[in-house]
Amino acid sequence: MESNLFTPANIGPVTLRNRTIRSAAFEGMCPDNMPSQKLKDYHRSVAAGGVGMTTIAYAAVTRSGLSFPHQLWMRPQAIPLLRNITDAVHAAGAKVSVQLGHCGNMSHRSTAGCTPISASNGFNLYSPTFVRKMRDDEIVAMSKAFGDAVRMARDAGMDCVEIHAGHGYLISQFLSPYTNRRRDRWGGSLDNRMRFMRICMEEVMKAAGSDMGVLVKTNMRDGFKGGMDIDDGILVARELENLGAHALVLSGGFVSKAPMYVMRGEMPIKSMTEYMDSKLLKFGVRLFGRMMMPTIPYESCYFLDDAKLFRRELKLPLVYVGGCSTRQAIERVLGEGFEFVQMARALISRPDFVNLMREGRSDDSICCHVNYCIARMYSKDMVCFRRTLIGDKLYWECDRLESLWEGK
Ligand SMILES: Cc1cc2nc3c(=O)[nH]c(=O)nc-3n(C[C@H](O)[C@H](O)[C@H](O)COP(=O)(O)O)c2cc1C
Repeated sequence: MESNLFTPANIGPVTLRNRTIRSAAFEGMCPDNMPSQKLKDYHRSVAAGGVGMTTIAYAAVTRSGLSFPHQLWMRPQAIPLLRNITDAVHAAGAKVSVQLGHCGNMSHRSTAGCTPISASNGFNLYSPTFVRKMRDDEIVAMSKAFGDAVRMARDAGMDCVEIHAGHGYLISQFLSPYTNRRRDRWGGSLDNRMRFMRICMEEVMKAAGSDMGVLVKTNMRDGFKGGMDIDDGILVARELENLGAHALVLSGGFVSKAPMYVMRGEMPIKSMTEYMDSKLLKFGVRLFGRMMMPTIPYESCYFLDDAKLFRRELKLPLVYVGGCSTRQAIERVLGEGFEFVQMARALISRPDFVNLMREGRSDDSICCHVNYCIARMYSKDMVCFRRTLIGDKLYWECDRLESLWEGK
């Protein structure tokens, strides 16, 4: 069968030049929660590298939705700076999207500006901090904040938005029985647990109008016992299709409970703690990090078996994400009927990977899944821990990391 990789396709009203999308992967390039020149340069390089669309990672729809101090916060002051980025990406021929979300219980008072909020009361071990159950009026106001963020994205020139409804972020905290223990109309049955997602999507679709594409990143399963399982994941996806989403990004995992389920492989704890300012946090993570972030072996296209079940059940365009770092993996996914492929680590490794494939220069992103980009992103900006072969010796280059990467 001939490859459709370099053929155009639509997400709602928006046409992408090919089937590749740079997945939302937190860049850590927003000091004071505002877009920087570095963020612009990075996305311009990915666009110039050939992707159909790039996604600016996680932007909080309100200050309380920030999980890191160097994370984007959608507010009017950010619009002109975001406009610089969308102009640069468009000039390079790609479309651009921004991931909109709220982290719920995964914040800290100092970052959120208030006690972190969620579907239910709780305690965030990572921060560590207490978490407060949202009131009815706050839930409704939050759905409006999603709509406002979409309007700001439009003003900034975004072609699409990606609503983060997975990975244990706020919408997913409502969907998951693990974090939603409410007994009112927002909790209990799956129908009730979907209610917050539903009102958010109503606001989002209204704000997106007829000229913006709307993707939703959703969990096929949470990835641990007691979380949302695949049967509910399919019902959630169907509901999103009925609510008018233009495409779904099929993912899984729960950052506060099963973080490596999202990305697989090992978390390089030593590298991660190297950049932390707080000595107490450094010590805690070095001691308990392995236990809190257990390794889940990486394999190519690790979500494909689950994603195929969703393909069978749904009609709307589906975006596959998870473990595509070679052309072979991408072709395999497209061959299974997925309209688009998202890549995070492959494009962190080689922002021009798509052009390399198109021009027949390389079919390998040379990403080796050591997850250094993830370890570093918690405290600094996102970079690749690149390997280079000099003679017959493999070198790991990036800042002063040779000594940091465990086991090598
Ligand atoms: C450095 C890094 C940061 C990430 N940040 C986000 C994020 O902000 N939002 C999100 O939905 N997923 C995030 N992810 C997950 C990716 O979007 C993607 O789902 C996952 O890495 C699997 O794709 P891959 O195998 O192509 O890397 C991040 C991944 C990486 C590597």
